[in-house]
Amino acid sequence: MIVVTGATGGLGSATVENLLQRVPADRIGVSVRNVAGARHFADRGVRVRQGSYEDPAALRDSFAGAEQVLLVSGNDPAADLIGLHRDAIEVAVAAGAQRILYTSQQGAVPGNPYPASETHMATEAVLAESGVAWTALRNGAYGTLDQVLGPWQRTGEIAQPEDGPVPYTDRADVAEAIAVILAGDRSYRSFDGPINLTAPTAVTFDDFAAIASELTGRTIERTVLDDEQWVADQIAIGVPEQAARFMLTWYQASRAGYFADADPLLAEILGREPRSAADRLADHIAA
Ligand SMILES: NC(=O)c1ccc[n+]([C@@H]2O[C@H](COP(=O)([O-])OP(=O)(O)OC[C@H]3O[C@@H](n4cnc5c(N)ncnc54)[C@H](OP(=O)(O)O)[C@@H]3O)[C@@H](O)[C@H]2O)c1
Repeated sequence: MIVVTGATGGLGSATVENLLQRVPADRIGVSVRNVAGARHFADRGVRVRQGSYEDPAALRDSFAGAEQVLLVSGNDPAADLIGLHRDAIEVAVAAGAQRILYTSQQGAVPGNPYPASETHMATEAVLAESGVAWTALRNGAYGTLDQVLGPWQRTGEIAQPEDGPVPYTDRADVAEAIAVILAGDRSYRSFDGPINLTAPTAVTFDDFAAIASELTGRTIERTVLDDEQWVADQIAIGVPEQAARFMLTWYQASRAGYFADADPLLAEILGREPRSAADRLADHIAA
């Protein structure tokens, strides 16, 4: 059985949808905090069990019989995510899982100032010690373009801190690729250790402004905001200072080049070109 955690979240639910197209439903289980949110999967024959990383006893039940587990990284920056991931990995190993896939992040390497990188590196180290096969899915940034670019359609400018090249990636492509790996559709190839799943090309906000100008026929400017000015602006619109400073580290990591590498592996796994930043921007404008 393939057990997917986080199946009521964006990436996990899309992965299950893709898995349902590849393997029989009775080979798929989900471990979710809120089983009511996964009723649509139960209705289609997926095993739905309650499980949270805070509750190893519940995970023992929701991971039972798992040959593979997709461990979706937690999303609460105030939680001890490394400890929670460690506990979940121990339960997966005890349940007999032969491979654990974990949603890491592109650029999870020493020196990256974005704090989530520490969580991912530490979890990858736990996986490396786990004694079972593992894959760290170092996913490219797949936040929505609203989150990434701000209100440029209204203001005519992309006004964000200094950035660097990033292969902004479509979460739907990542979910499809994870399902391909879990289903064994690329069994000629091993996916051991960290792998980068990113869009084919890294772009900057300057590139986005040029693409947006071409797509809209308007002149979209790129304005580089001073870091502290940006933090102050975020606070002024109601973002907690801690959250704004957390996000600022992401821009600092991008300008230092930690997210700069685009990797062809996602295209290979999908058997087609992943969606590019320009594709996504065109859809975003049309929506
Ligand atoms: N690469 C990127 O650009 C990027 C962007 C955002 C996030 N991420 C990371 O990648 C993960 C998946 O992304 P996403 O877009 O699917 O995020 P999402 O929609 O927020 O989903 C996160 C999932 O994790 C589950 N979860 C969180 N804490 C948990 C816990 N303690 N025990 C069990 N389940 C827990 C959530 O459960 P509920 O449904 O019950 O809330 C949810 O289903 C995120 O959690 C985050 O770590 C990556």
